[in-house]
Amino acid sequence: MDPMEKIFDEMAKNPKMKKKLKIKAAFSLLLLVLFFGVIFITVGTILATKNGSFLGLTKLQFMELRSKYGIMMMVLITIHLMMNWKIFTKELKILFS
Ligand code: HEM
Repeated sequence: MDPMEKIFDEMAKNPKMKKKLKIKAAFSLLLLVLFFGVIFITVGTILATKNGSFLGLTKLQFMELRSKYGIMMMVLITIHLMMNWKIFTKELKILFS
């Protein structure tokens, strides 16, 4: 088994850690679902630019949607980064060692 998988399995045995992991997993799942929205808006913007409109929305409407969606994603990604900050700093130490 992958060492990371082993660590996760061990952590899941501890109720406190399991609760923490569940919150992180729920948040990552939310990000994954919202990422499909990013793909939809990006493809929609390209198609509306090419054909004048896509699903009844003009390029300008897609751009407006994109800026609002972008702000929401920025907030959620910032929270995601904060939740994973400790792991990330450990990885950065390895990267620059
Ligand atoms: C589609 C959107 C995303 C999903 C579904 C996602 C999901 C995940 C998952 C499952 C983890 C592992 C958590 C853990 O090990 O406890 C993770 C870790 C992490 N994510 Fe994301 N993430 C997304 C976007 C991003 C973005 C845009 C950034 C940076 C701006 C980012 C930065 C990080 C960092 C720094 C970590 C911790 C280090 C690591 O595990 O490598 N993520 N993410």
